[in-house]
Amino acid sequence: MEIKIPIVLKKLENSISDFEYQVIEDLETSEKSIIDSVKQSSVFNLMKSFDGLVSHVKQWANPIDKSRWSKQFNMHTDWLYYKDVPEIIWLYCIDSWKSKATTFVIDTKKVIWELLDDELDMLKKLQYSYIGRDWKFHSRPAIENDPLSWAFITNMSAKWFISPYPYLWAKMPDMFDYIKLVKKVHDKLSSSIKYEHFRKKWDLLLVNNNRYLHWRNWWELDLNRHLLRFRLNVDASRI
Ligand SMILES: [Fe+2]
Repeated sequence: MEIKIPIVLKKLENSISDFEYQVIEDLETSEKSIIDSVKQSSVFNLMKSFDGLVSHVKQWANPIDKSRWSKQFNMHTDWLYYKDVPEIIWLYCIDSWKSKATTFVIDTKKVIWELLDDELDMLKKLQYSYIGRDWKFHSRPAIENDPLSWAFITNMSAKWFISPYPYLWAKMPDMFDYIKLVKKVHDKLSSSIKYEHFRKKWDLLLVNNNRYLHWRNWWELDLNRHLLRFRLNVDASRI
């Protein structure tokens, strides 16, 4: 059965307030067709990266960009280092090759839910800091509201460290307690994989980029694996 991108967009639009993740199999389409369809959407915008509206995720596409290699890549939220974080990520497989470098998705909402009230209060005082693609320092709160569901979620970049907000330095009673808490959250996230995607050609994986972290494992070099990565944000004024 042929599934058209405008139908995928319409269904996503209708479930956007609590969208989690979804896989659509055997969706034969093209880069141009996806771009044209999203441009015509009344709700979604395609966000432009330094390499345009679509990123080619392939081992040798960019030798210094580890996010595109087939090697393991730590759990993360995409694009934290930009001002606007895309709400939805699309990964479209045009060549699965060995299919060994699978993608995992992890529900951060569930992990944050399991925290005790005082742990949640502690986490609200922290931010994650990391170095972005532009080699500058960036920070995000350790706890935020998912802009789609407003549930508490946590962000994470692939390489990060914690820091208290500057005005809190003097009030920090014991940094060690915070480090223990962040380790606990990190361990819980690592062990709470919600879904592992063994991709096949023409699979489209859609992920709520704020609520879910994703990461990639690695067993062997996957030279020909080729994914198209699109970043969609929701124009709230148009819902
Ligand atoms: Fe990613």
